[in-house]
Amino acid sequence: MSHPIIFDTDPGVDDAQAIAIALRHPEIELLGLTTTYGNVDVATATRNALLLTQLAGREVPVAQGAAAPLVKARHPAPAHIHGANGLGDISLPEVTGRPDPRSAAQFIIDTVNARPGEVTLVAVGPLGNLAAALQLDPALTGKVKRVVVMGGSVYEGGNVTPVAEANIFNDPDAAARVLTAGWPLTLVGLDVTHRCVLDEAHMARIAAGQGELGRVLADSYAFYRDFYRHARGIDGCCPHDSCALAWLLRPELFTTAPGHLSVVTHGEAEGQTLFAPEGRAFIAPRWSQTPLAEACLEVDGEAVVEWIAATLG
Ligand code: RIB
Ligand code: CA
Repeated sequence: MSHPIIFDTDPGVDDAQAIAIALRHPEIELLGLTTTYGNVDVATATRNALLLTQLAGREVPVAQGAAAPLVKARHPAPAHIHGANGLGDISLPEVTGRPDPRSAAQFIIDTVNARPGEVTLVAVGPLGNLAAALQLDPALTGKVKRVVVMGGSVYEGGNVTPVAEANIFNDPDAAARVLTAGWPLTLVGLDVTHRCVLDEAHMARIAAGQGELGRVLADSYAFYRDFYRHARGIDGCCPHDSCALAWLLRPELFTTAPGHLSVVTHGEAEGQTLFAPEGRAFIAPRWSQTPLAEACLEVDGEAVVEWIAATLG
């Protein structure tokens, strides 16, 4: 079965690997990449997206989107994690392609409306593009097949604050709109992505299997790995964004639960995702009043990283 997807991204080392999967996997029909600020500014994100399609020898539309959060001020890009160029500060070839003239939000609307009920939105950066698309076309909620979000955390805690995951923290107002819009939505958060560790042996397979694209993925990974060594004390990286595609194609590797999501938009816990399991009664009903969604809670992490390496190896 083929999955038509739009991949919304802020590449980013782990985004780059996920984009490579989206470009290469025979069961994915990649309709377009939409870009956002996040790991880098949005112009750099667009350049990297174009570069990755070029290295894969594919012509896929790339539409540029959000340059800043909806409400809060933008935080500086995390150059210590992804490098100032988003790809580990390695040297990169010239980009020859140009972005689609439409905004990311308009590209999403046009593409979903052309194939109602068929398109899955896979979002692995801050959620401003999906929020903008919803604002322009609220009926989008009934026209996408599913929305898969790499972001948030149910029981795992955060990675940029004690409680917040980076993509949600970067634009909590957009995330609040997207996670409570009432469309079929699966949250692939830190509860599962932190259980997946891609090591050097996996990367060697990817480097060997992807030519120049493999070199870019492997060399940028080396920079990203240094961050993980210092931040989490592990010898390898969490392939956050590839996990969203792993869920889409290999859902049997994940345990999910239905529940109500909400996002803290202000204060100390800004960017925290709250998950009220379906049917559970709390002291007041307010946490259970958002539409039902689905959150990933557990994963076979070894099987996921093997799937990534086998897909790109
Ligand atoms: O928290 C992980 C997410 O934030 C991933 O999408 C990664 O690319 C980073 O920006
Ligand atoms: Ca990302």
